Amino acid sequence: MRLTEEERSILEGKEGNAAKKSMEILVALGEIYGAERLIPVTSVQISGVSYANLGDAGLEFLAELARDGRVRVKTTLNPAGMDMENWRALGIDEKFAEKQIKVIEAFADMEVATTCTCTPYLIGNKPNFGEHIAWGESSAVTYANSVLGARTNKEGGPSAIASALTGKTAEYGLHLDENRQAQFVVEVNARIDSPMLFGALGYVAGKLAKGRIPLIRGIGKATVEELKSLSASIVTYGAAPIFHIEGITPDKTLTPDEKVTVKQKEIDEAIADMNDTDDVDFIFIGCPHCSMDEMETLAELLKGKNVKKELWIGVARPIKKMADEKGYSKVIEESGAKFACDTCHVVAPLKGRFKALATNSAKGIYYGRGKNGFKTAFRPLADCIKLAVEE
Ligand code: F3S
Repeated sequence: MRLTEEERSILEGKEGNAAKKSMEILVALGEIYGAERLIPVTSVQISGVSYANLGDAGLEFLAELARDGRVRVKTTLNPAGMDMENWRALGIDEKFAEKQIKVIEAFADMEVATTCTCTPYLIGNKPNFGEHIAWGESSAVTYANSVLGARTNKEGGPSAIASALTGKTAEYGLHLDENRQAQFVVEVNARIDSPMLFGALGYVAGKLAKGRIPLIRGIGKATVEELKSLSASIVTYGAAPIFHIEGITPDKTLTPDEKVTVKQKEIDEAIADMNDTDDVDFIFIGCPHCSMDEMETLAELLKGKNVKKELWIGVARPIKKMADEKGYSKVIEESGAKFACDTCHVVAPLKGRFKALATNSAKGIYYGRGKNGFKTAFRPLADCIKLAVEE
């Protein structure tokens, strides 16, 4: 790889140990993937923040970097293992909380903005078209590449931190235009008009993709909430972390010859596949984390209701604060629902606490089953709330 003078000096340790280690990680990755050079990034999002994933070894690694490492670009975090303020109400144990707090403190020492969310693009970490970034969370990476037209690979925890501490990434993969072209067409011939249905489309298209990039046609319009749902599910179920939708996403792409049609039948089968129970004891909304519009809808659905089961709302803390100001949070909390800011049902240590999960997120279903062994109910938002208020 060709390194600039500044990059070489970081590699020689002239700008501290954390920057040196970071440069070593980036150069090693660049060499593995055949990158010719490093390029500047404007934004970083770090995943692998939950102590449940990091363990003590991960915590030590972070503490060592925090001794002299300071971020050089705007950097936010993916959800942690608990709500950093309200963890007791969510039943998180004291020992876990102690360790999780240390993890966040290490990031704070590195001057990371310690907002923990998988929707950084809703809270001010929103890159523009064409910007090179280094993000970690798969749904956010897919949203950034596809919907915003920013350029990022799906970074692991250490490589995202390395980018934050140097302001660089290796130029390979989705940073290069030739690797962002669609590889097959998905012609949609079905009604796709809610976040849940976009999630189901992601399930079908992701399985068809087998690691490739789809060009989706036949979708007239899509909201932010629908696109974040599709971004989360399509990559979870097997596509590359980028898709194109004709008339909606901003990247130019070639039109491949191979075409697959998705009909209503396949969408219905996907929904049936993600449902194996009605008898749920846990409902999670906000995968990916809720937007302001979703907070408003939740307040409308929960107004005057009495929640009988554990209902968590996953949301970035800045969005929750805006919802406080609008009065939505009060209505939601009065119903008995709980906010899970900074965290979610997948990264929180929930195994064994619940039997069956209801959610409107296809990604949430995948990890609810795979990571926590839950039975699952995949329903539209209003039906999830109905399940939460039923005896
Ligand atoms: Fe976000 Fe957790 Fe879903 S990180 S995308 S809410 S699994």
